[in-house]
Amino acid sequence: MSRLQDKVALITGGAQGIGLATAQAFVDAGARVYIADIEDDIGRKAAEMLGTNAEYLSLDVGEETQWKETTALLLQKHECLDIVVNNAGITGFTETSTPQDPEHFELAAWHSVHKTNLDGVSLGCKYAIAMLKNAKSASIVNISSRSGMVGIPGAAAYASSKAAVRNHSKTVALYCAQQGYPIRCNSVHPGAILTPMWNAMLGEGEQRKAAIDMVAQDIPLQTMGTPEDVAYAVLYLASDEAKYVTGIELTVDGGILAGATAAPKKSS
Ligand code: NAI
Repeated sequence: MSRLQDKVALITGGAQGIGLATAQAFVDAGARVYIADIEDDIGRKAAEMLGTNAEYLSLDVGEETQWKETTALLLQKHECLDIVVNNAGITGFTETSTPQDPEHFELAAWHSVHKTNLDGVSLGCKYAIAMLKNAKSASIVNISSRSGMVGIPGAAAYASSKAAVRNHSKTVALYCAQQGYPIRCNSVHPGAILTPMWNAMLGEGEQRKAAIDMVAQDIPLQTMGTPEDVAYAVLYLASDEAKYVTGIELTVDGGILAGATAAPKKSS
């Protein structure tokens, strides 16, 4: 039986990368999928590519009025939704030109990263509850990051926003359980997944290949992950196979968070 048969899902940041791979996995599993993004041209093409069970919606996740409109639209079309994946996120590297470290960051840039990554997920959970609470069995999956679990000196706002998503997901999980809503909420923590988000960090041509090899050297599994690696984790949490799973953190990072660079070892 298809794992998401007859389920209706909304995936933010679904025009490319992890969001698009998740949308493809959901469609393949039998779901009807709405992908929401701010990149309208790319998003519309992505929905076309996904086929008749996918549709594109323009939504800036940091804007509450847009969430209200999207929620009203979807609840007109469907009695309720079953799955919301809050995936849209930015690093701040390309969106702002200022330093991202904790000594030199500028407050406006700090706020803009938090607006998408934290306000976007918090609003996404708020309106997900409205869209999911009448479902039989529903799931919110929030895409945090390995950077929400460790300090990142060069990306302070990104790490802070992702750490907040990690915590807020547990609050939402417990709140929904307390209220008796049929909604589970979990966070996924990808690390080093090769998506367009990395383009600015990797460069192009030969330089890009060398940069990918450098990143891979520091990963226990010796390779960067693919968007599909994350999509399969999200698919599990979104499906009823995970009906007893709420408030967890699922890392998908090739083993990066399993160890530490300063691990002691016997000298030979
Ligand atoms: P990506 O940059 O390839 O895709 C992100 C998508 O989000 C884009 O389509 C973009 O237009 C959209 N987006 C950005 N701001 C938005 C807004 N305000 N409203 C709606 N959509 C918006 O990135 P990728 O790698 O696919 O990342 C997806 C999620 O996974 C992000 O939350 C990211 O932080 C997280 N993540 C990614 C990792 C990686 O190595 N690629 C590692 C850890 C976490």
